[in-house]
Amino acid sequence: MLTIRSLAIFLALGALSAVDAAPQNNRGNRSGRKSKNGNGGGQQQAATAFQQAQQIPQGVSTATDGSTILDMTAQVNGLPLRFKVSAPADQFTTDSGVTGATQDANAAGDLGLNILLHGDGGQSFFDFPNQGVLSNLAGVAVLAPDPNLFWGGGSGLDRTDGVAHAQAVSDLVATVLPSVLAFNASSVSFTGVSGGSLLLSGFLLPGHMAQFAAAGQESQVLLNCGGLEPQVAVSADNAAALANTRIHFQSTQQELALLQPAIPAAIAAYEQIAVGEGLDAAAVGALQTVDNSPDGGHCEFDEKDFVSGVQLMADSFSAVMQGGDGILAGTNVNVLNPVVGNEDLSFSGAS
Ligand SMILES: *[C@@H]1O[C@H](CO)[C@@H](O)[C@H](O)[C@H]1NC(C)=O
Ligand SMILES: *[C@@H]1O[C@H](CO)[C@@H](O)[C@H](O)[C@H]1NC(C)=O
Repeated sequence: MLTIRSLAIFLALGALSAVDAAPQNNRGNRSGRKSKNGNGGGQQQAATAFQQAQQIPQGVSTATDGSTILDMTAQVNGLPLRFKVSAPADQFTTDSGVTGATQDANAAGDLGLNILLHGDGGQSFFDFPNQGVLSNLAGVAVLAPDPNLFWGGGSGLDRTDGVAHAQAVSDLVATVLPSVLAFNASSVSFTGVSGGSLLLSGFLLPGHMAQFAAAGQESQVLLNCGGLEPQVAVSADNAAALANTRIHFQSTQQELALLQPAIPAAIAAYEQIAVGEGLDAAAVGALQTVDNSPDGGHCEFDEKDFVSGVQLMADSFSAVMQGGDGILAGTNVNVLNPVVGNEDLSFSGAS
């Protein structure tokens, strides 16, 4: 199993080597491309972060809780979507190739999903902090189909491929995941990390929430260290679904400067959608919560480090999102502040 350290070393080595020196770089059709200087030979372009990630083997492994992880790639709307699903082996479909699988394709299951979208560069996809089954949700992580591994492509707050990526994630849940896992399609939740939170709040929630939070469905969305106002029009059915979606915004005291105005703007926009659906202040405050009290930099929710901070939020999903006490695991920090009256976050510095 790849550790974080060996992955970092692997990626560093990959960046130094020519693309075609690496075996099994089977994703791109490089024969059809010209090199940068146009001579078609000799000089090779450096591997993109996406291409380097493809060199990390896919397949079956074991999660920290003993359940099974399947790591594979599917084409969705012409985009290569690599994803990991983690669940007890018997919940996979016999078509998935997982040993011990018992389910038919499209079978309904009892487990819901918690789908993580990583930050720029993909770290949390490889770490898979939400792996295993937590509070009846099977962990899923999806890798951005982007050369830089940025969800929504583009850069900064300008996510130029956000519409296509949000569509691909929604379609992955609707059309691909049922072919590998039996799950409850009425219980699909999301966790965003940084750029993944930008894709969720900017595009997936406003454009697709009716798929996940219509009447009779339940969905929780944890937006860690990132938020964007909706970047697409919010249809009536998506607005209604958002009035039925539990959302928590989590930041830190020394958030990235770029995000310090973006997260409060997102909070205000989502609050307004819920108000527009007729929710009163108490209902909005129960549905949407916010916190940025941890004294750390970007995603350092444990006040120490990015990786361990993101892990802390994954470990606290049930406490924060599913009606728990709102206290981050192993701390005395309660993050369940209603958005109403707390829209304008104050920060102590910038990371
Ligand atoms: C690769 O690209 C070239 C040029 O565009 C094309 O002729 C060839 O069919 C492609 N090969 C594959 C396997 O897609
Ligand atoms: C599926 O999830 C919905 C929403 O949480 C719940 O009402 C329903 O009971 C679940 N179904 C099963 C089979 O667990």
